[in-house]
Amino acid sequence: MSYTKLIEAATRARSRAHAPYSKFSVGAALLTKSGTIFTGCNVENVSLGLTICAERSAVAAAVAGGDKELAAIAIVTDFPEPVFPCGACRQVLAEFNPELEVVASTIGGRNETALLSKLLPCSDQKILESITNV
Ligand code: THU
Repeated sequence: MSYTKLIEAATRARSRAHAPYSKFSVGAALLTKSGTIFTGCNVENVSLGLTICAERSAVAAAVAGGDKELAAIAIVTDFPEPVFPCGACRQVLAEFNPELEVVASTIGGRNETALLSKLLPCSDQKILESITNV
């Protein structure tokens, strides 16, 4: 499957990043199973630990939009190498689809794809579920 449209949406979202501290703008675009695209960008704060990554901001947009059936995410940066989501974002993405397709892209046109289950093995919640009976 071609992710051109998804990468374009992530690139547009990247232009809206609020990254005055790191100067590292990130855009993300989530494709849901219904074919809808939700976007996010990183939102930094002077209290640096409050920063929200682009991936988690896209997840919040999808959930708020009423669509949690995630199929794929594209992440765009201007780093020379494709950048995959941080550990925290991997866990948040796995909440909705541990088999999510992750496309890491650079504005220079480099793309790498990986399954979330490979980036974050053993993310399933079986143990938690057995403890809490959820
Ligand atoms: N960042 C993301 O938004 N996503 C990533 O996958 C990597 C890191 C943001 C967080 C922070 O605003 C900046 O990039 C530098 O780490």
